[in-house]
Amino acid sequence: MIHAIPPEDWPGADEAGRSRLFSPVDLGRGCTLATRTWVPAMVPWRATDDGDVTPAVLRWYGRFADGRPGALVVEATGIRDVPSGPLLRIGHDRYIDGLRALVDTVRERSHGETRVFLQILDFLAMRRRPEPGAYFGRFLRLDAGHRTRLAALTGDAGWEQATGDDVRAHLATLDDAGLDAVLTVREREDLRRGYRERVTDTYLPHVRDLPKVLPGLFAAAAVRAEAAGFDGVELHYAHAYTMASFLSALNDRDDGYGRTLDGRVRLPREVFAAVRGAVSDRFVVGCRILADEAIAGGSTVADASHFARVLSRDGMDFVSLSKGGKFEDAKQPKVGEAAYPYTGPSGHECMPTVRSDVRGPFARNLGLAREVRAALRADGLSTPVVGAGGIVGYRMAEEALAAGACDVVGAARQSLADPDWWLKVREGRGVEVRRCKLTNYCEALDQHHKEVTCQLWDRAVVPGEGDVPRAKDGRRRLEAPPWHPR
Ligand SMILES: Cc1cc2nc3c(=O)[nH]c(=O)nc-3n(C[C@H](O)[C@H](O)[C@H](O)COP(=O)(O)O)c2cc1C
Ligand code: SF4
Repeated sequence: MIHAIPPEDWPGADEAGRSRLFSPVDLGRGCTLATRTWVPAMVPWRATDDGDVTPAVLRWYGRFADGRPGALVVEATGIRDVPSGPLLRIGHDRYIDGLRALVDTVRERSHGETRVFLQILDFLAMRRRPEPGAYFGRFLRLDAGHRTRLAALTGDAGWEQATGDDVRAHLATLDDAGLDAVLTVREREDLRRGYRERVTDTYLPHVRDLPKVLPGLFAAAAVRAEAAGFDGVELHYAHAYTMASFLSALNDRDDGYGRTLDGRVRLPREVFAAVRGAVSDRFVVGCRILADEAIAGGSTVADASHFARVLSRDGMDFVSLSKGGKFEDAKQPKVGEAAYPYTGPSGHECMPTVRSDVRGPFARNLGLAREVRAALRADGLSTPVVGAGGIVGYRMAEEALAAGACDVVGAARQSLADPDWWLKVREGRGVEVRRCKLTNYCEALDQHHKEVTCQLWDRAVVPGEGDVPRAKDGRRRLEAPPWHPR
């Protein structure tokens, strides 16, 4: 069913001034958020192919800072010094200057009010869905098992002795049922969705060694983030990436870094310990985890509560919660395209849209946040919890705080739709808020690695504005139209 965006009863400036939402919250380490408002990480596809900050990146974050959120989390930024397309990187000291310019921009444009964190992440290799010819010709590693199963399928024992070229050529002629009989589960997935490494592929030396290398890589990245002037880092332990895969209930590594709850959280704890030990006492270190993986056999809110407790006891400064966003249930990509973790049911849980079940998208994931937060408080832990997911209005945000679902309210797409919205509400000018439609036009752009913009403003023409930077397609403006606070 399709849900309508509920009408909003915007507060006047006085009411907003007395609200929980616009009251401060202390993250410790000398870092107080002036308000409980948070712009979660969003990749805008504006970095260079070498992962450098560009003028477009500065404009993007400057625009969010105009709305003066309590905190702004800069997009998922790679900790390794390896090519990864136009995503920000922090795997080398040469990135520090560009990132410092980003921090300076946020400070200046928010009048020093917004705290700025960098989300740092690691991800494993994946490839696009191959042409079947290329898969059978080059990628498939033939072994005796393929020959035996092909012989059984065809009733022709001759396949046991056939040349590799002949076997490959014949496999390429098989229908799906035939391929199901001859290929392993993993090979079928490589063929139909593209090859994707997992943390459980411990036969690969670099995957086996992740627990040895990741603490150092994350720590070095955090040190650079501090040198660039960030207030802290958010360790990306959520969605489809390496650290979330360690936390996952599907992690059956047998080297002490999987299987049990404590095994799964071991590397995230070791990464945190390395980061905490490398940065100063004034530098905030928090993490983002999944309150529920939202996939078959995946982690639940009970697992997330355990992880949040363990990580908070270790000294994590905040826990930000997300949900889903996994590869396991992502849609099959077209040939030549890569799988995208926000296309399946778990993707919908991560970025819920108005096309939803009866529960609808609004504040959809805050119930889970409330459970995790309650588990922390029951253990006497006061770690601030950041909730997000379908918050598109002031009342929803205020209710989430009043209900104890979170201590800080994250709104990603609503902030993209209108980066000034926090300030508009604070000033009693909520009627001027451009309200997110929760239809995920922006997410579709992200999926196709195009510069992310919002359907509500990317064609806007503002009289007298002059030249506005446009996307590579030449049509869409890259930043929200200006708004003039009093
Ligand atoms: C374009 C786009 C890019 C995103 N990139 C990231 C990211 O880099 N890291 C992350 O943790 N979440 C990312 N997200 C998820 C958001 O942070 C947020 O959790 C999600 O959109 C749900 O919140 P919302 O309903 O307020 O939008 C992204 C979301 C969008 C729309
Ligand atoms: S493109 Fe759609 S879903 Fe995305 S921020 Fe704009 S209105 Fe919201």
